Amino acid sequence: MAAPDAEEVRLGGSALVTSSLGVGAWSWGDETLWGYRARHGPKDVAEAFLASVKAGVTLVDTAEVYGHGESERIVGWLARHAPRPVQVASKFALLPGRAGARALRPALQASLARLRLPRVDLYQLHWPDRSMATAGALADALAEVYKAGLVGAVGVSNHTASELREAHEALARRGVPLATQQVQYSLLHREPERDGVLHACRELGVTLLAYGPLCQGLLTGAYGPEHPPADFRAKDPRFTPEALAQTRGLVGLLREFGEAHGGRSPAQVALNWLLCQPGVVPLAGARTAVQARETAGALGWRLTPEAVERLDRWDGSR
Ligand SMILES: NC(=O)c1ccc[n+]([C@@H]2O[C@H](COP(=O)([O-])OP(=O)(O)OC[C@H]3O[C@@H](n4cnc5c(N)ncnc54)[C@H](OP(=O)(O)O)[C@@H]3O)[C@@H](O)[C@H]2O)c1
Repeated sequence: MAAPDAEEVRLGGSALVTSSLGVGAWSWGDETLWGYRARHGPKDVAEAFLASVKAGVTLVDTAEVYGHGESERIVGWLARHAPRPVQVASKFALLPGRAGARALRPALQASLARLRLPRVDLYQLHWPDRSMATAGALADALAEVYKAGLVGAVGVSNHTASELREAHEALARRGVPLATQQVQYSLLHREPERDGVLHACRELGVTLLAYGPLCQGLLTGAYGPEHPPADFRAKDPRFTPEALAQTRGLVGLLREFGEAHGGRSPAQVALNWLLCQPGVVPLAGARTAVQARETAGALGWRLTPEAVERLDRWDGSR
């Protein structure tokens, strides 16, 4: 296997090589939460996709539940018409009423039909099944679609450290490498460092895909107590006027480091801090080409070790 380029990574022990930063497609087609069609539409997301791909961001993360399948339809069309190869990641959801692991293959086939692709590059369990012990059955189902060539690599999401270890072992017994674990991770959400997930990923050689790397826009500096978001985030405790006031110090620090690194934006510094964490690939949601270009501007440079260390140690006190 050839070594990845500077801004490329191999996902875990899989053969899948992709960009070290991915674009998240949750808001592409999601009308209920993200206001697709009302705030941004097909032209915006197509432009966001093209801007990402042209800037070297070729990993696109979607899921069968995003926009009730609309995100997969959009991503599939864009991937098929992309100016260069992209890597599509999607997810299987253990929805209530589904027949557990037996539902995985039909759900994947439905995803492939929406994507109109012969296979997905990365197929992930959106969340674990905590109601019954299905790790073995799920590993069987994932191994089956992997060996059938329907998916290029397999991953999990929202697993605890012990669930991650269990999934890794169950897949390894079937000869399948667990490529990724996708969890929320950002400067404002450091749980993976405390709950053992980051440690387990590194120990097992599993890539951590960091979702919400901008804390849903909080780390861009676009929101403050005077101008909170006017959508579903307004009810999120992280976006109350008090919480927004508390993040001013961090956004100020991101601005300071951005200026010291050649005029980077707070979003670019926040993403770059994640890029500086070994084994971590951030997945940033971008609704427009402007946001996608800004996101991609996190690539091609790195924060100094001193800046990384100061951000590591940020404790909310300034
Ligand atoms: N596995 C899971 O359970 C799970 C859960 C959540 C997300 N994800 C994945 O992770 C991806 C990213 O997570 P996320 O979308 O929740 O959070 P995020 O990447 O932290 O935030 C994305 C939001 O930040 C704002 N933004 C992005 N770039 C910006 C820029 N340059 N300037 C100003 N604002 C900017 C946009 O919202 P506004 O413009 O509206 O502010 C955008 O929708 C998702 O698309 C999805 O693929 C997975």
